[in-house]
Amino acid sequence: MERCPAGTGAIARAARRLAQGRLVAFPTETVYGLGADATNGRAVAAVFELKGRPQFNPLIVHLADSDAAAGHGIFDDRARRLAEAFWPGPLTLVLPCRAGSPLNELVSAGLDSVALRVPAHPVARALLQACALPIAAPSANPSGYLSPTTADHVADAFGEADLLVLDGGPCPVGLESTVVDLSRPDSVGLLRAGAVTPEQIEAHAGKVVHADAGAAIRAPGMLPQHYAPHRPVRLDAQTVGPGEALLGFGPDLPAGAVLCRNLSAAGDLREAAANLFAMLHELDQPGIAAIAVMPIPGEGLGLAIRDRLARAAAGH
Ligand code: TXA
Ligand code: MG
Repeated sequence: MERCPAGTGAIARAARRLAQGRLVAFPTETVYGLGADATNGRAVAAVFELKGRPQFNPLIVHLADSDAAAGHGIFDDRARRLAEAFWPGPLTLVLPCRAGSPLNELVSAGLDSVALRVPAHPVARALLQACALPIAAPSANPSGYLSPTTADHVADAFGEADLLVLDGGPCPVGLESTVVDLSRPDSVGLLRAGAVTPEQIEAHAGKVVHADAGAAIRAPGMLPQHYAPHRPVRLDAQTVGPGEALLGFGPDLPAGAVLCRNLSAAGDLREAAANLFAMLHELDQPGIAAIAVMPIPGEGLGLAIRDRLARAAAGH
């Protein structure tokens, strides 16, 4: 971990790090974010790894402006009005994913919606300008801890990590952004309360429904709209059955699959996490009897991969 004041030189260096697939913690007006290039699956996997989360929660993608956001999400009139009123600022919009967006699927944890935010903090804005990348960033705390509102909080938590912490002083809002779900045309869901109030949302987008006890926040993997393949998923497969596709892991794959992908020939869990959702999509083809998934080690990022696969398997 290296920490430096968020001057022009440090921001340029942070932008280069992001482009290399490495991580940068940076201040926003709400809390510090743990940022990665949102188009780079390995970099996004490294964020989950560093947070130590046993599940893949969908992450917020930070963008320089509304035009950049429009490349990744589909804005209806409600979304346009909210963006106009509150961006840049502490509001996150969950919108249907735009086809062709280069975001890695791990960012949305395989959902067909994506959370977008244009932050107002000058350091966050300068970093987004400098790197010209969408930055996926959860709050920069280890899973289960409080969100960080100073560079000290981040530095204390991630002392040993390969991380550059841009110190921009304390976060002025100190509370995470309001998350509004506009992924369905018939409802405005409040997924997380924040600095932008429900009344302010209602003034621009109509009646707000408070999402069921924060279910989406605590367990996004449980959401009914969460991606599950159409074909059955068979876990911890050592062999391939008739008509099965194979999702492999490691150097030695069993023979006989009608279709095959390997999460990581090197047995690298970060690479596997980066490939997980895209490869499930690729194997979920008509005519496949099932997707046989080789055993994934239950340690580190492997826990989150196994969690996600178990949910995919339970869908049938
Ligand atoms: O203020 C903030 O929003 C901070 C700063 C760094 O921007 N970020 C932050 O990220 O709080 P995180 O990962 O700690 O919280 C993201 C929230 C979670 O509650 C997550 O479930 C929700 O956004 N979220 C993200 N994508 C979603 C999606 N596609 N559908 C539903 N909820 C989503
Ligand atoms: Mg958080």
